[in-house]
Amino acid sequence: MSSATDAERPDAPSGSARPERFTTVREFLHALGQRFTYNPRRNAYALFGFLWGLPVPVFSVGIDQWASGQATQHPIHIAFLMHPLLFAVIFGAMGTVRHRKDLQIHHLVEELKRHAQELGLANERLTELDRMKAQFMANVTHELKTPLVAIRGYNESILEERFGPLTDKQRQGLGIAVRNVDRLQKLIEELLEFERIDSGDFKLQIADFDLVPLVQSALENFRPQVDEKKLATELHLPEKLEVRADREKIAHVLQNLISNAVKFSPDGSAIGVTASTDASLGRASLTVWDRGPGIPSAAQKFLFTRFWQADGSSRRKHGGTGLGLAICKGILDAHRAPIQVVSSEGNGTKVHFSLTLAKECPHDREAAHSHRGR
Ligand SMILES: Nc1ncnc2c1ncn2[C@@H]1O[C@H](COP(=O)(O)OP(=O)(O)O)[C@@H](O)[C@H]1O
Ligand SMILES: [Mg+2]
Repeated sequence: MSSATDAERPDAPSGSARPERFTTVREFLHALGQRFTYNPRRNAYALFGFLWGLPVPVFSVGIDQWASGQATQHPIHIAFLMHPLLFAVIFGAMGTVRHRKDLQIHHLVEELKRHAQELGLANERLTELDRMKAQFMANVTHELKTPLVAIRGYNESILEERFGPLTDKQRQGLGIAVRNVDRLQKLIEELLEFERIDSGDFKLQIADFDLVPLVQSALENFRPQVDEKKLATELHLPEKLEVRADREKIAHVLQNLISNAVKFSPDGSAIGVTASTDASLGRASLTVWDRGPGIPSAAQKFLFTRFWQADGSSRRKHGGTGLGLAICKGILDAHRAPIQVVSSEGNGTKVHFSLTLAKECPHDREAAHSHRGR
Protein backbone atom coordinates (compact mmCIF):
# COMPACT_ATOMS: atom_id res chain seq x y z
CA MET A 1 0.00 0.00 0.00
CA SER A 2 1.44 3.33 -1.04
CA SER A 3 0.33 5.05 2.17
CA ALA A 4 2.71 2.80 4.07
CA THR A 5 5.61 3.22 1.65
CA ASP A 6 5.31 6.99 1.99
CA ALA A 7 6.00 6.75 5.69
CA GLU A 8 8.46 3.89 5.45
CA ARG A 9 11.00 5.86 3.42
CA PRO A 10 13.62 6.67 6.06
CA ASP A 11 15.79 8.62 3.60
CA ALA A 12 13.18 11.38 3.28
CA PRO A 13 14.54 14.87 4.11
CA SER A 14 15.20 15.26 7.79
CA GLY A 15 17.06 18.61 7.86
CA SER A 16 19.48 17.32 10.49
CA ALA A 17 21.63 20.45 10.27
CA ARG A 18 18.77 22.53 11.66
CA PRO A 19 17.90 22.83 15.32
CA GLU A 20 15.96 19.86 16.66
CA ARG A 21 12.59 21.60 17.07
CA PHE A 22 12.58 22.93 13.47
CA THR A 23 13.40 19.46 12.25
CA THR A 24 10.50 18.01 14.20
CA VAL A 25 8.09 20.69 12.88
CA ARG A 26 9.31 20.02 9.35
CA GLU A 27 8.84 16.30 9.78
CA PHE A 28 5.36 16.88 11.19
CA LEU A 29 4.35 19.06 8.23
CA HIS A 30 5.88 16.54 5.87
CA ALA A 31 3.86 13.77 7.54
CA LEU A 32 0.62 15.70 6.85
CA GLY A 33 1.19 15.02 3.17
CA GLN A 34 1.56 11.28 3.61
CA ARG A 35 -1.26 8.78 3.24
CA PHE A 36 -0.04 6.71 6.14
CA THR A 37 -1.16 9.57 8.40
CA TYR A 38 -4.79 9.04 7.39
CA ASN A 39 -4.84 5.27 7.65
CA PRO A 40 -6.37 4.36 11.03
CA ARG A 41 -5.97 0.66 10.26
CA ARG A 42 -2.17 0.87 10.00
CA ASN A 43 -1.61 3.97 12.08
CA ALA A 44 -3.05 3.45 15.58
CA TYR A 45 -2.28 7.09 16.41
CA ALA A 46 -4.87 8.27 13.83
CA LEU A 47 -7.53 6.01 15.35
CA PHE A 48 -6.57 7.14 18.83
CA GLY A 49 -6.84 10.82 17.73
CA PHE A 50 -10.29 10.18 16.26
CA LEU A 51 -11.54 8.53 19.47
CA TRP A 52 -9.88 11.24 21.56
CA GLY A 53 -11.78 13.90 19.54
CA LEU A 54 -15.19 12.15 19.73
CA PRO A 55 -16.30 13.49 23.16
CA VAL A 56 -15.94 17.08 21.91
CA PRO A 57 -18.96 17.06 19.49
CA VAL A 58 -20.88 14.53 21.60
CA PHE A 59 -20.73 16.67 24.72
CA SER A 60 -20.71 20.16 23.16
CA VAL A 61 -23.57 19.44 20.73
CA GLY A 62 -25.39 17.38 23.36
CA ILE A 63 -25.11 20.13 26.02
CA ASP A 64 -26.19 22.81 23.48
CA GLN A 65 -29.27 20.80 22.47
CA TRP A 66 -30.11 19.96 26.09
CA ALA A 67 -29.72 23.62 27.20
CA SER A 68 -31.77 24.99 24.27
CA GLY A 69 -34.32 22.20 24.64
CA GLN A 70 -34.31 21.65 20.84
CA ALA A 71 -32.73 18.97 18.71
CA THR A 72 -31.85 21.41 15.91
CA GLN A 73 -28.39 21.79 14.31
CA HIS A 74 -26.45 25.05 14.44
CA PRO A 75 -23.60 25.96 11.99
CA ILE A 76 -21.17 26.10 15.01
CA HIS A 77 -21.86 22.41 15.51
CA ILE A 78 -19.89 21.69 12.31
CA ALA A 79 -16.76 23.06 14.01
CA PHE A 80 -17.35 20.70 16.93
CA LEU A 81 -18.14 17.79 14.64
CA MET A 82 -14.83 18.37 12.83
CA HIS A 83 -12.87 17.75 16.06
CA PRO A 84 -12.52 13.96 15.78
CA LEU A 85 -11.18 14.38 12.23
CA LEU A 86 -8.82 17.17 13.32
CA PHE A 87 -7.48 15.08 16.18
CA ALA A 88 -7.18 12.06 13.89
CA VAL A 89 -5.04 14.13 11.47
CA ILE A 90 -2.80 15.64 14.19
CA PHE A 91 -2.28 12.35 16.00
CA GLY A 92 -1.94 10.53 12.68
CA ALA A 93 0.90 12.87 11.63
CA MET A 94 2.56 12.30 15.00
CA GLY A 95 2.21 8.56 14.42
CA THR A 96 3.85 8.90 11.01
CA VAL A 97 6.81 10.83 12.48
CA ARG A 98 7.15 8.20 15.23
CA HIS A 99 6.89 5.38 12.71
CA ARG A 100 9.60 6.92 10.53
CA LYS A 101 11.90 7.33 13.54
CA ASP A 102 11.35 3.70 14.51
CA LEU A 103 12.18 2.64 10.97
CA GLN A 104 15.33 4.74 10.97
CA ILE A 105 16.41 3.26 14.29
CA HIS A 106 15.60 -0.22 12.99
CA HIS A 107 17.74 0.39 9.90
CA LEU A 108 20.59 1.72 12.03
CA VAL A 109 20.41 -1.24 14.39
CA GLU A 110 20.42 -3.64 11.43
CA GLU A 111 23.42 -1.84 9.94
CA LEU A 112 25.25 -1.91 13.29
CA LYS A 113 24.54 -5.63 13.61
CA ARG A 114 25.91 -6.21 10.12
CA HIS A 115 29.08 -4.17 10.91
CA ALA A 116 29.53 -5.99 14.21
CA GLN A 117 29.23 -9.30 12.38
CA GLU A 118 31.77 -8.19 9.77
CA LEU A 119 34.14 -6.99 12.50
CA GLY A 120 33.74 -10.27 14.37
CA LEU A 121 34.62 -12.22 11.24
CA ALA A 122 37.61 -9.96 10.49
CA ASN A 123 38.76 -10.33 14.09
CA GLU A 124 38.51 -14.11 13.91
CA ARG A 125 40.51 -14.07 10.69
CA LEU A 126 43.16 -11.81 12.23
CA THR A 127 43.45 -14.00 15.33
CA GLU A 128 43.85 -17.02 13.11
CA LEU A 129 46.49 -15.24 10.99
CA ASP A 130 48.28 -14.14 14.14
CA ARG A 131 48.31 -17.67 15.45
CA MET A 132 49.62 -18.93 12.12
CA LYS A 133 52.32 -16.25 12.10
CA ALA A 134 53.41 -17.17 15.64
CA GLN A 135 53.49 -20.83 14.70
CA PHE A 136 55.43 -20.07 11.53
CA MET A 137 57.93 -17.92 13.45
CA ALA A 138 58.41 -20.59 16.08
CA ASN A 139 58.96 -23.28 13.43
CA VAL A 140 61.31 -21.21 11.28
CA THR A 141 63.41 -20.00 14.18
CA HIS A 142 63.62 -23.51 15.58
CA GLU A 143 64.68 -24.87 12.17
CA LEU A 144 67.30 -22.10 11.91
CA LYS A 145 68.63 -22.64 15.41
CA THR A 146 69.31 -26.35 15.08
CA PRO A 147 71.76 -26.22 12.15
CA LEU A 148 73.43 -23.14 13.63
CA VAL A 149 74.29 -25.06 16.78
CA ALA A 150 75.92 -27.75 14.63
CA ILE A 151 77.80 -25.17 12.51
CA ARG A 152 79.09 -23.45 15.63
CA GLY A 153 80.11 -26.74 17.26
CA TYR A 154 82.05 -27.91 14.22
CA ASN A 155 83.71 -24.53 13.73
CA GLU A 156 84.82 -24.53 17.34
CA SER A 157 86.20 -28.05 17.06
CA ILE A 158 88.15 -27.01 13.98
CA LEU A 159 89.37 -23.89 15.80
CA GLU A 160 90.53 -26.08 18.67
CA GLU A 161 92.49 -28.05 16.01
CA ARG A 162 90.72 -31.30 16.79
CA PHE A 163 90.66 -32.09 13.07
CA GLY A 164 94.26 -31.14 12.44
CA PRO A 165 96.50 -28.07 12.63
CA LEU A 166 95.36 -24.70 11.25
CA THR A 167 97.25 -21.91 9.56
CA ASP A 168 96.85 -18.38 10.99
CA LYS A 169 94.73 -17.34 8.04
CA GLN A 170 92.40 -20.34 8.54
CA ARG A 171 92.08 -19.54 12.26
CA GLN A 172 91.29 -15.90 11.47
CA GLY A 173 88.67 -16.90 8.92
CA LEU A 174 87.05 -19.39 11.26
CA GLY A 175 87.02 -16.83 14.07
CA ILE A 176 85.02 -14.48 11.82
CA ALA A 177 82.66 -17.34 10.93
CA VAL A 178 82.04 -18.16 14.62
CA ARG A 179 81.38 -14.50 15.46
CA ASN A 180 78.84 -14.28 12.66
CA VAL A 181 77.14 -17.47 13.77
CA ASP A 182 76.90 -15.89 17.23
CA ARG A 183 75.31 -12.79 15.72
CA LEU A 184 72.82 -14.90 13.84
CA GLN A 185 71.97 -16.86 16.98
CA LYS A 186 71.42 -13.63 18.90
CA LEU A 187 69.18 -12.33 16.15
CA ILE A 188 67.09 -15.50 16.21
CA GLU A 189 66.87 -15.37 20.00
CA GLU A 190 65.71 -11.75 19.75
CA LEU A 191 63.04 -12.62 17.19
CA LEU A 192 61.84 -15.50 19.36
CA GLU A 193 61.78 -13.31 22.46
CA PHE A 194 59.89 -10.59 20.65
CA GLU A 195 57.35 -13.07 19.32
CA ARG A 196 56.80 -14.44 22.82
CA ILE A 197 56.35 -10.99 24.31
CA ASP A 198 54.21 -9.71 21.46
CA SER A 199 51.84 -12.64 21.70
CA GLY A 200 51.75 -12.37 25.50
CA ASP A 201 52.96 -15.97 25.65
CA PHE A 202 55.20 -15.57 28.69
CA LYS A 203 54.90 -15.61 32.45
CA LEU A 204 56.84 -13.36 34.77
CA GLN A 205 58.85 -15.16 37.44
CA ILE A 206 58.54 -12.50 40.10
CA ALA A 207 61.02 -12.63 42.97
CA ASP A 208 63.05 -10.28 45.15
CA PHE A 209 66.63 -9.78 44.00
CA ASP A 210 69.46 -7.30 44.17
CA LEU A 211 69.63 -5.14 41.06
CA VAL A 212 73.22 -3.97 41.64
CA PRO A 213 75.08 -7.15 40.58
CA LEU A 214 72.67 -7.48 37.66
CA VAL A 215 73.60 -4.02 36.37
CA GLN A 216 77.29 -4.73 36.89
CA SER A 217 77.24 -8.02 35.04
CA ALA A 218 75.08 -6.55 32.23
CA LEU A 219 77.73 -3.90 31.72
CA GLU A 220 80.54 -6.45 32.04
CA ASN A 221 79.04 -8.39 29.12
CA PHE A 222 79.87 -5.43 26.91
CA ARG A 223 83.45 -5.08 28.17
CA PRO A 224 85.02 -6.07 24.81
CA GLN A 225 82.99 -3.43 22.88
CA VAL A 226 83.49 -0.82 25.65
CA ASP A 227 87.25 -1.37 25.57
CA GLU A 228 87.36 -1.38 21.81
CA LYS A 229 85.55 1.98 21.66
CA LYS A 230 87.51 3.31 24.65
CA LEU A 231 84.31 4.30 26.44
CA ALA A 232 84.32 5.55 30.02
CA THR A 233 81.72 3.78 32.13
CA GLU A 234 80.09 5.41 35.15
CA LEU A 235 78.00 3.45 37.58
CA HIS A 236 76.15 5.32 40.31
CA LEU A 237 74.53 2.59 42.34
CA PRO A 238 73.61 2.06 45.96
CA GLU A 239 75.32 -0.82 47.75
CA LYS A 240 72.20 -2.85 47.55
CA LEU A 241 68.98 -2.31 45.62
CA GLU A 242 66.45 -5.04 46.18
CA VAL A 243 63.56 -5.02 43.73
CA ARG A 244 60.60 -7.27 43.08
CA ALA A 245 60.59 -8.30 39.42
CA ASP A 246 61.50 -11.00 36.93
CA ARG A 247 65.30 -11.16 37.19
CA GLU A 248 65.94 -12.72 33.77
CA LYS A 249 63.66 -10.31 31.98
CA ILE A 250 65.09 -7.23 33.71
CA ALA A 251 68.57 -8.48 32.83
CA HIS A 252 67.35 -8.56 29.24
CA VAL A 253 66.09 -4.96 29.48
CA LEU A 254 69.44 -3.82 30.88
CA GLN A 255 71.32 -5.70 28.16
CA ASN A 256 69.24 -4.04 25.45
CA LEU A 257 69.61 -0.54 26.87
CA ILE A 258 73.33 -0.86 27.55
CA SER A 259 73.80 -2.40 24.12
CA ASN A 260 72.19 0.69 22.54
CA ALA A 261 74.26 3.06 24.69
CA VAL A 262 77.49 1.28 23.67
CA LYS A 263 76.50 0.86 20.03
CA PHE A 264 75.50 4.47 19.39
CA SER A 265 78.27 6.13 21.44
CA PRO A 266 81.18 7.64 19.54
CA ASP A 267 84.66 6.33 20.42
CA GLY A 268 86.12 7.84 23.59
CA SER A 269 82.82 9.12 25.05
CA ALA A 270 81.05 7.88 28.19
CA ILE A 271 78.10 5.72 29.12
CA GLY A 272 76.61 4.97 32.51
CA VAL A 273 73.88 3.55 34.68
CA THR A 274 72.40 5.43 37.62
CA ALA A 275 70.07 3.91 40.15
CA SER A 276 68.27 5.47 43.07
CA THR A 277 65.38 4.62 45.32
CA ASP A 278 62.25 6.49 46.18
CA ALA A 279 61.17 4.77 49.37
CA SER A 280 58.02 6.91 49.64
CA LEU A 281 56.83 5.65 46.24
CA GLY A 282 58.29 2.23 46.91
CA ARG A 283 60.15 2.28 43.61
CA ALA A 284 63.70 1.97 42.30
CA SER A 285 64.56 4.26 39.39
CA LEU A 286 67.17 3.34 36.83
CA THR A 287 68.72 5.41 34.09
CA VAL A 288 70.95 4.14 31.31
CA TRP A 289 72.61 7.07 29.60
CA ASP A 290 75.09 7.88 26.89
CA ARG A 291 76.61 10.93 25.25
CA GLY A 292 75.98 9.64 21.76
CA PRO A 293 74.21 11.33 18.83
CA GLY A 294 70.79 11.34 20.53
CA ILE A 295 67.49 10.78 18.81
CA PRO A 296 65.69 13.54 16.86
CA SER A 297 62.48 14.50 18.68
CA ALA A 298 60.34 13.81 15.58
CA ALA A 299 61.61 10.22 15.58
CA GLN A 300 61.03 9.54 19.27
CA LYS A 301 57.41 8.49 18.92
CA PHE A 302 58.56 5.47 16.88
CA LEU A 303 61.18 4.28 19.37
CA PHE A 304 59.11 1.43 20.77
CA THR A 305 57.73 0.40 17.39
CA ARG A 306 58.90 -3.02 16.33
CA PHE A 307 61.63 -3.11 13.65
CA TRP A 308 61.98 0.67 13.72
CA GLN A 309 65.47 2.19 13.49
CA ALA A 310 66.32 5.86 13.08
CA ASP A 311 68.65 4.83 10.32
CA GLY A 312 66.78 2.12 8.47
CA SER A 313 68.86 2.38 5.29
CA SER A 314 70.67 -0.63 3.89
CA ARG A 315 73.96 1.29 4.27
CA ARG A 316 73.39 1.96 7.99
CA LYS A 317 76.42 2.06 10.24
CA HIS A 318 74.96 0.06 13.11
CA GLY A 319 73.44 -3.39 12.91
CA GLY A 320 70.44 -4.59 14.88
CA THR A 321 66.85 -5.48 14.24
CA GLY A 322 64.96 -2.56 15.74
CA LEU A 323 63.36 -4.95 18.24
CA GLY A 324 65.42 -4.12 21.36
CA LEU A 325 63.33 -1.23 22.66
CA ALA A 326 60.04 -2.92 21.68
CA ILE A 327 61.13 -5.92 23.77
CA CYS A 328 62.10 -3.63 26.70
CA LYS A 329 58.70 -1.94 26.54
CA GLY A 330 56.89 -5.29 26.40
CA ILE A 331 58.78 -6.59 29.43
CA LEU A 332 58.34 -3.40 31.44
CA ASP A 333 54.66 -3.12 30.49
CA ALA A 334 54.19 -6.62 31.89
CA HIS A 335 55.78 -5.33 35.12
CA ARG A 336 53.51 -2.24 34.98
CA ALA A 337 56.73 -0.28 35.00
CA PRO A 338 57.00 2.94 32.99
CA ILE A 339 59.87 3.53 30.55
CA GLN A 340 60.81 6.93 29.21
CA VAL A 341 63.42 8.06 26.72
CA VAL A 342 64.83 11.56 27.12
CA SER A 343 66.97 12.54 24.19
CA SER A 344 67.67 15.30 21.74
CA GLU A 345 69.84 15.38 18.68
CA GLY A 346 73.49 15.84 19.60
CA ASN A 347 72.92 15.65 23.36
CA GLY A 348 73.01 11.96 24.15
CA THR A 349 70.21 9.73 25.35
CA LYS A 350 68.82 8.83 28.76
CA VAL A 351 66.46 5.92 29.21
CA HIS A 352 64.62 5.89 32.54
CA PHE A 353 62.57 3.09 33.98
CA SER A 354 61.44 2.17 37.45
CA LEU A 355 60.69 -1.05 39.32
CA THR A 356 58.86 -1.92 42.51
CA LEU A 357 61.12 -2.13 45.53
CA ALA A 358 61.26 -5.39 47.44
CA LYS A 359 59.74 -5.15 50.89
CA GLU A 360 62.01 -4.90 53.94
CA CYS A 361 64.99 -3.65 52.02
CA PRO A 362 67.33 -1.15 53.67
CA HIS A 363 67.42 1.36 50.83
CA ASP A 364 69.83 3.92 52.07
CA ARG A 365 70.42 6.77 49.70
CA GLU A 366 73.54 7.74 51.66
CA ALA A 367 75.01 4.32 51.00
CA ALA A 368 75.09 5.09 47.30
CA HIS A 369 78.55 4.87 45.97
CA SER A 370 79.88 5.55 42.55
CA HIS A 371 82.11 3.43 40.48
CA ARG A 372 84.03 4.72 37.51
CA GLY A 373 86.15 2.83 35.09
CA ARG A 374 87.60 3.02 31.65
N1 LIG B 1 71.05 5.28 22.99
C1 LIG B 1 70.62 5.55 21.76
N2 LIG B 1 71.20 6.55 21.04
C2 LIG B 1 70.77 6.84 19.78
N3 LIG B 1 69.77 6.19 19.15
C3 LIG B 1 69.15 5.21 19.82
C4 LIG B 1 69.54 4.83 21.14
N4 LIG B 1 68.74 3.83 21.54
C5 LIG B 1 67.92 3.58 20.51
N5 LIG B 1 68.16 4.40 19.48
C6 LIG B 1 67.43 4.45 18.20
O1 LIG B 1 66.31 3.61 18.31
C7 LIG B 1 66.35 2.56 17.34
C8 LIG B 1 65.71 1.32 17.91
O2 LIG B 1 66.49 0.78 18.96
P1 LIG B 1 66.36 -0.76 19.26
O3 LIG B 1 64.92 -1.06 19.37
O4 LIG B 1 67.23 -1.10 20.41
O5 LIG B 1 66.85 -1.47 17.92
P2 LIG B 1 68.33 -1.71 17.37
O6 LIG B 1 69.30 -1.45 18.48
O7 LIG B 1 68.30 -3.13 16.96
O8 LIG B 1 68.48 -0.78 16.22
C9 LIG B 1 67.82 2.42 17.02
O9 LIG B 1 68.04 1.84 15.75
C10 LIG B 1 68.27 3.86 17.07
O10 LIG B 1 67.94 4.52 15.87
MG1 LIG C 1 69.10 -2.18 20.41
